[in-house]
Amino acid sequence: MAGPLPIADPAPADGLLPNQARLGAESRTFHGYVHIPFCRVRCGYCDFNTYTATELEGANQSDYAEILIQEIAFSAEVMAKSNVPARKLSSVFFGGGTPTQLPAADLTRILAALSETFGILPGAEITTEANPDTVDLEYLQQLATGGFNRISFGMQSAVDSVLKTLERTHNPANVSKAVAAAKQAGLEVSVDLIYGAPGESLDEWRESLETALALEPDHISAYALIVEDGTKLARQIKSGQLAEPDEDLQADKYELAESMLEKAGFGWYEVSNWAKLDSVASTNSHQSAHNLSYWNSQDWWGYGPGAHSHVGGVRWWNVKHPSAYGQKITDGISSAAGRETLDDRVRLEERILLEIRIATGVSIELAKQVHQDAAKLIAGFIADGLIDAASAIQGQIKLTLKGRLLADSLVRQLLG
Ligand SMILES: C[S@@+](CC[C@H](N)C(=O)[O-])C[C@H]1O[C@@H](n2cnc3c(N)ncnc32)[C@H](O)[C@@H]1O
Ligand code: SF4
Repeated sequence: MAGPLPIADPAPADGLLPNQARLGAESRTFHGYVHIPFCRVRCGYCDFNTYTATELEGANQSDYAEILIQEIAFSAEVMAKSNVPARKLSSVFFGGGTPTQLPAADLTRILAALSETFGILPGAEITTEANPDTVDLEYLQQLATGGFNRISFGMQSAVDSVLKTLERTHNPANVSKAVAAAKQAGLEVSVDLIYGAPGESLDEWRESLETALALEPDHISAYALIVEDGTKLARQIKSGQLAEPDEDLQADKYELAESMLEKAGFGWYEVSNWAKLDSVASTNSHQSAHNLSYWNSQDWWGYGPGAHSHVGGVRWWNVKHPSAYGQKITDGISSAAGRETLDDRVRLEERILLEIRIATGVSIELAKQVHQDAAKLIAGFIADGLIDAASAIQGQIKLTLKGRLLADSLVRQLLG
């Protein structure tokens, strides 16, 4: 969602998908992403496709659910006319922006439209992101009654000075209230943390991890702060007002997260994601099924401005501004700004890029298909302690802790 949209072919106004989209669809699962592009204020580090009230240029939060519901109807029509086999949804994720800026009734209405249109598989994971300041028990109970079973809170840090640098407006005390209320409403809880804000010490990061663990969530995401071009944070760093994140300190913070989360009974399953292990069988049932569907190249339709979709190697993305998006939907035409049909080589490369970052790893066979010296590279990775030797013998590339810190470099070498 971040940054400018890719440059590619124009998408047809009727949205119809090429043949490739339906090939093999029976063996892939289908998922829904719903983008809610509203925030009360913009945090200095964030370049997500989101708008404050003054940036909406005529778009209206109160009409938004209705417009999204029209895109849901449009998507079902496009899939049917393109002969993509109908499948029930395996997961739904509401992201933003701040989905909980909208009334709970709007979110549950959108979810009901997805359910009526496609059906939702029993036990499917239904998540919304939330800013801790925007919810209370009544709101969360409404979500749970309407079919949501998981919530992901943007906690980011427990330290006042770090939250200030990040320009987060929430009161840290609200996080524990919001998490307690979510549990009372029967929702699975995840919290997002960010490490590496300018000036954040290792001890401050430890404090954030301890505070997050004390909340006893089911899942924790810990993201290294990315300094995105065009953000206020990038300008503050460029002008020398704030220090650039230090790479060695970032690595220490990642290692600290791994050791504290592991001790607390969490297992990593993607480079930035840890799920609480069930005590009985050490299974990892709290992993995000929705995010795993992205990393395993399944099919999803992304609803809303700037949202990306992927069906069978056909990828498209909607126009970014809610006002331009709303106009296209109202006109009954596709809201896609561009689209690309990936060839076999690019699909393979994408699989390597995504699957190497998950704990189950990527198969050596795939790596060999994209790099003629893959075997030699892999032998080097084992010698350097970057991938697990026993798994490599079984045919899988699985990152060690050291490898997780250098995941991007390994990918560059494998695709080089
Ligand atoms: C859409 S936001 C989450 C929901 C809500 N808007 C909030 O911030 O509380 C998704 C997550 O992306 C992460 N994020 C956003 N910008 C980031 C950046 N520049 N670097 C690292 N993580 C970032 C944050 O952890 C954030 O919680
Ligand atoms: S609240 Fe979330 S989406 Fe909104 S600006 Fe902040 S990080 Fe970005």
